[in-house]
Amino acid sequence: MDREPLRESNLSENVFEEEEEKKKLKTKKTHKLIIFSAFGIVAVIVIIILILIFTLKKDDDDKEKIKPRSLLDIEKLKKYQTPYYYYNTTLLNETIAEALRLANQHDISIHFSLKSNFNEKIVRIFASHKEIGADCVSGGEVNYSVNYFPKDKIVFAGIGKTDEEIADAVDKGIFCINVESYEELENLNEICKGKKKKMNFATRINPNIEAHTHEKIITGLNENKFGIYLEEDENKFYNKIKEIYFNINNKYEYLNFIGLHFHIGSNILNFTDFAVLCKKIDKIVDKLNDLNISITYLNLGGGLGVDYNETYLHPIPDFEGYFNTYLTNLTCLKKVGPNYNGNKAIKLHFELGRSLIAQSGYVISKVNYIKEGVKKKFAILDAGMNDLIRPAMYGALHQIESVVFKNEQEMYDVVGPICESSDVFAKNYTMDKLQKGDYVLIRTAGAYGESMASRYNFRKLIQGYLDYEF
Ligand code: LLP
Repeated sequence: MDREPLRESNLSENVFEEEEEKKKLKTKKTHKLIIFSAFGIVAVIVIIILILIFTLKKDDDDKEKIKPRSLLDIEKLKKYQTPYYYYNTTLLNETIAEALRLANQHDISIHFSLKSNFNEKIVRIFASHKEIGADCVSGGEVNYSVNYFPKDKIVFAGIGKTDEEIADAVDKGIFCINVESYEELENLNEICKGKKKKMNFATRINPNIEAHTHEKIITGLNENKFGIYLEEDENKFYNKIKEIYFNINNKYEYLNFIGLHFHIGSNILNFTDFAVLCKKIDKIVDKLNDLNISITYLNLGGGLGVDYNETYLHPIPDFEGYFNTYLTNLTCLKKVGPNYNGNKAIKLHFELGRSLIAQSGYVISKVNYIKEGVKKKFAILDAGMNDLIRPAMYGALHQIESVVFKNEQEMYDVVGPICESSDVFAKNYTMDKLQKGDYVLIRTAGAYGESMASRYNFRKLIQGYLDYEF
């Protein structure tokens, strides 16, 4: 009898234990859940942190690329009085190496276009590569370039060569004169006859092609002043070349016709323009071939454009795409045979300016004032349109940055000190917040920057320095 309550109490104890067990299990589960969730949260946080670190690192890398290499020491920049041109020779050498790698691969000849930059230190760098020649457009450039480049690698173009300039070039024995009109051809002939000196020449042809670039730097349209207008009277052209090539009536014994010259414009990024040019060239070479006239020289000018916007993404222009456009589209290069090109190879020549030097040059300038205008803020630099004329002349936008990276941004009209309203580098331009005395750099200024500088407003002529001069 006694057993019953005992059993009861045993039972209730069991129930109690079971419940305790259940509770423990539940708490265990809850603990596990909490631990798992905590792990999950920690994992998510770690992933977020990793992503952040990666992104920030990438940003930093990009910033490093944005900064001209070896231009990080602001103290060193103070060595010369601003404004001045700063040249990044590391990038310049890389650019030249890439152009030469491809040129050598395809037996292409490169002439550096002196008009883009004739700073002596830069010219010496180009001339130190034995494969590189010079493209000149004035007697001054010819006289200058013979000091640095082999004579047989110098070519001379230009629509307005004076008698003296031609005579001088003939005396110097440069490789080729690119003749831009029939009138010049007769003049060249007379000068060579007078000197009894034979001269290689090529005819610059105006192919009437509208290149996709700024209207002020298109050169290959009929309305432009450059070259011989072949389309106007083809017979006139071929008859003249025949007369000279075969020296009919002994009239042109001192002229040696070696080929054709073209240049349809500058800063061209649309390669279709070059492909269109190739079609026209093929037609001319075919016609010359029909006349048993062989050429060895095909000068395709320059024109390869550069990226003025995302300069740090494309510091080296697309030489490969540029050369390949010609190599694949020019069918005359593939044709051989006794009646074609006299079995001589046609050598391609390029006159590159901008693409070789633009990205390696920067203007270094200091902020003179931050001026509050009525509607906008002006950042007034000590560099002006006389130092870099491209923005005023072609409406070009060159990227502008503070040399020292700033965390804050502000919008300015970035202007120079010249007494002209067109002395503006950039309008409504958001950039690092500036203050008086800050150093800024203006990018992609290596080509047609220092070479187009003037003393307007009776200012000092801007100087250029290479990175290792600091
Ligand atoms: N060959 C001839 C016959 C040329 O007239 C020129 C440039 C070149 C070669 C070199 O072209 P590049 O590779 O640089 O495109 N001041 C203007 C550019 C004028 C280009 C004059 N001719 C500018 O700042 O955009």
